[in-house]
Amino acid sequence: MAENDLLRQLESFERDSLAALEKITDEADLTKWRVANLGKSSFVMQVFSKLGEAPKEDRPKIGQAANQVRERLETALAEKTEFLNRKSLEQKLTQERLDISLPGRQPRKGRLHPANQNMREILAVLSGMGFEIFRSPEIETDEYNFELLNIPAYHPARDMWDTFYTTDPGVLLRTHTSPGQIHAMRTFAPEPIRVALPGMCFRYEQVSARSEVQFNQIELLAVGKHITFGDLKGTLQDFAHRMFGENVRTRFRPSYFPFTEPSAEMDVECFLCGGKGCSMCKNSGWLEILGCGMVHPTVLKNGGYDPEIYTGYAAGLGPERITILRHNVEDIRYFWGNDIRFLEQF
Ligand code: PHE
Repeated sequence: MAENDLLRQLESFERDSLAALEKITDEADLTKWRVANLGKSSFVMQVFSKLGEAPKEDRPKIGQAANQVRERLETALAEKTEFLNRKSLEQKLTQERLDISLPGRQPRKGRLHPANQNMREILAVLSGMGFEIFRSPEIETDEYNFELLNIPAYHPARDMWDTFYTTDPGVLLRTHTSPGQIHAMRTFAPEPIRVALPGMCFRYEQVSARSEVQFNQIELLAVGKHITFGDLKGTLQDFAHRMFGENVRTRFRPSYFPFTEPSAEMDVECFLCGGKGCSMCKNSGWLEILGCGMVHPTVLKNGGYDPEIYTGYAAGLGPERITILRHNVEDIRYFWGNDIRFLEQF
């Protein structure tokens, strides 16, 4: 009697469980169902734990029946789990669609600093004219920056360059690329040379819209036999034509540098007004772009060349000045201010 009761109860438990499972549509309810119907306190499991209380001869039958119920419920649970997983995957596949019509996010691309762009452009022109690029140090000695360039200590010409001195005696930040002339000559003498020396220079100056404590220069140097002022003029004119246009006019004005004799400054026709006169050229029609001259005999000697046999010319130009003039930049401090709004324009 008790045995039959129990079997019937198991049967109806199974029926109810399966019916409840049928209705389940999500994973959370499935977990709850598993705890309630297959967990420790579920009806089938209770049957197992109370099996000892049943009369001995009934136990195998009850145990077997309970086992079968449990197995069928476990199989049903596995099927349901599999079904729900497949359903949720299908749902994801149809709903979470990748919108390939959306434009991608473009990575921000960097570019060369305007000073470097301009530097490369000028050096490309100079290489095309046969100048070899020669690097020389930014930290110099007093000897190279001044003495060997015919600027002795206490000479009033030192006032032309306000200098950053370091705490090491006699060591300074170069005020111009001209000390590179000595490095180049001492490297190549007595061979003829034709080099361009680019790089950063430093001057201890009041910073303003027109002057900075750092700026680039490009130095030109040619040394050989029979080099004349005509070569200097022709080369620099050719450079101006390649840089600014075939028809641009140039002019030379006498000047003074301790390391060249004679010395000059070269102007190019103002490219904003074409020489008529405007605010950029301060109504003169001309823009000053470089200093130059024939290498002083003392400098040739210091570089290892006999000034009785060799001659040479040198020039120094400020590439930032050229960028300023070309793009009408109103403040030289923009170059090293690292303001992206300025840099982005180039
Ligand atoms: N070094 C000079 C300056 O910085 C420029 C220069 C270079 C002049 C070469 C003549 C020859 O002012």
